[in-house]
Amino acid sequence: MTPSDPGSSPPSSSAPSVGFVPPPYPYERLNGARARAAERFADRGGLVDCSIGTPCDPPPDAVLSAMATSGTERGYPTSPGSPAYRQAAAGWIERRFGVTIDPEGGVAACVGTKEFVATSAQFLRLRTPDRDTVLYPSVSYPTYAMGATLAGARAVPVPELAAGGLDLEAVDPRDAERALLVWVNSPSNPTGALSDLERAAAWGRDRGIPVLSDECYAEFTWDGPPRTILESGSDGVVAVHSLSKRSNLAGVRAGFYAGDPDLVTYLLDVRRHAGLMVPGPVQVGAVVALDDDAHVDVQRKRYDERLRFLAGVLADAGLPVDLPAGAFYLWVPVPDRFADGWALCEWLADEAGLLVSPGELYGPDGSDHVRVAVVQPMDRLELIGTRLV
Ligand SMILES: Cc1ncc(COP(=O)(O)O)c(C=O)c1O
Repeated sequence: MTPSDPGSSPPSSSAPSVGFVPPPYPYERLNGARARAAERFADRGGLVDCSIGTPCDPPPDAVLSAMATSGTERGYPTSPGSPAYRQAAAGWIERRFGVTIDPEGGVAACVGTKEFVATSAQFLRLRTPDRDTVLYPSVSYPTYAMGATLAGARAVPVPELAAGGLDLEAVDPRDAERALLVWVNSPSNPTGALSDLERAAAWGRDRGIPVLSDECYAEFTWDGPPRTILESGSDGVVAVHSLSKRSNLAGVRAGFYAGDPDLVTYLLDVRRHAGLMVPGPVQVGAVVALDDDAHVDVQRKRYDERLRFLAGVLADAGLPVDLPAGAFYLWVPVPDRFADGWALCEWLADEAGLLVSPGELYGPDGSDHVRVAVVQPMDRLELIGTRLV
């Protein structure tokens, strides 16, 4: 991603002004490969779509019936989340990470986490107009950079350490001085790597830069226990969590952010004015989901089985890949016989009817990989095994 610098070249008075043109949505760039594979494998079991990380497994029944019977449809929901919602989020943080958060001032609801990721830079920029830079991992979920663009800010990618996490030493001090915020993501989408969150928190605190920690895959941490940046204290940090992955509830849009009471309170105040609200029935369902861990254990087993199986299939096809430290993606290096991730993506679609994401969707530094999301049931993945032999 090229850093965009809205301040570097003011338009001359005679030049026509060019407004924002939204780029193609990343996954729409796969439409050609998707259509070809669907047609080619139409009478052989069809396309197996492992591109977008949309869960395929069911949410808990108790969540669905709580939403269906909540009785909350008539009134407006509260934007920060009901007391029960915030309490359930704080209770989950305590259970999962052993960290205590004040449910009143330290946690609030978001409408799934994508909108939070996309809007926080603009909201923080309103508060800190003399800062104009968003730092984010150079191979990452595209919405971190898009959030900077939507804020009229500079998106500056930070290279990553081989062991995972941002190489914060590589940040130009001039960029750090201009930074509105830094995003970290552990476990990472797409690489599955884990970050040293304590180090990231300390780096941000030393420089007065808020650290926003996207932890939406925390439940699917395979190497060691799940971690949150809040273990290092809440000063200057915000952890962001989602029910989309944890509870297969991507369709209802429920998440929350927790941490520094000053940041959380500012964000919830501005978000309330923007009309950002998790719908009432969803809030009631989310409480049921957050209070239950048994369904997450079942989901962990599903992803673990699929990751191991598909890694074996790909290795047998000459595409060796390490199992991830977290999340439910295989980050597959592109062998020399393919030009880049796009070429491997086309080949997998044409040869096996398997749709994956070229790594370039996550930044230029990812172009020598593809991402395979294990969001298909075993019988669909077994088809890939039979096609790639
Ligand atoms: C790293 C990361 N953050 C945030 C999200 C957004 O998830 P949601 O908006 O469903 O909570 C995703 C979704 O794929 C993701 O991969």
